[in-house]
Amino acid sequence: ENEHLEIIRKSLKTCPNFPKNGITFIDILGIFSDPTAHRALIDLILTRIRKFDTKIDAVVGLEARGFIFGPQIALELQVPFLPVRKHGKLPGKLVKVDYALEYGTDTIEMQVDILKSGTKILLVDDILATGGTLSAAQKLCAKLGYDVSETLVIIELLGLGGREKLANIDHFTTLFQYSQNDIEA
Ligand code: PRP
Ligand code: MG
Repeated sequence: ENEHLEIIRKSLKTCPNFPKNGITFIDILGIFSDPTAHRALIDLILTRIRKFDTKIDAVVGLEARGFIFGPQIALELQVPFLPVRKHGKLPGKLVKVDYALEYGTDTIEMQVDILKSGTKILLVDDILATGGTLSAAQKLCAKLGYDVSETLVIIELLGLGGREKLANIDHFTTLFQYSQNDIEA
């Protein structure tokens, strides 16, 4: 497991002053340019999932970067994958949740009646920062009657209050944690 973590960490490039001055961006999509790191990441995620005490019935992923990891996990687990999309992208009958951004608000949506109420969900995204997006997605799943048994991200940015916003924090998994100091180092 530590060997896997090291391979993945090396492929995570940090980009100072992107998208704005003073912000350091972690380029998580860089993992896919290295098939060894990609394989290590998926294996590590699956190892963590196998340690969960509940059996996952479906994976829910968040637009856009949760769409890259979520379906791969669902396929390996042989369970359905469902998308959470930003407002105006999904057809059919929807449920919506509004959430706060740095400036203004945004809305995420899911289609109704795909899975049964009580379905045990693994919610997946790439990064937890302020927690606005992931906590909104937890609420969205709850509105549909789904049981968000587990929530998983690849990276948690510390010091932004993200995890404090999440429900069911005992069932939150992150592979990496970065503080602003780690990024600047
Ligand atoms: C990014 C990231 C997470 C979210 C985390 O998505 O992929 O989904 O921000 O931030 P938060 O914890 O402060 O809510 P973003 O909407 O910027 O872009 P994306 O569509 O490329 O995923
Ligand atoms: Mg995102």
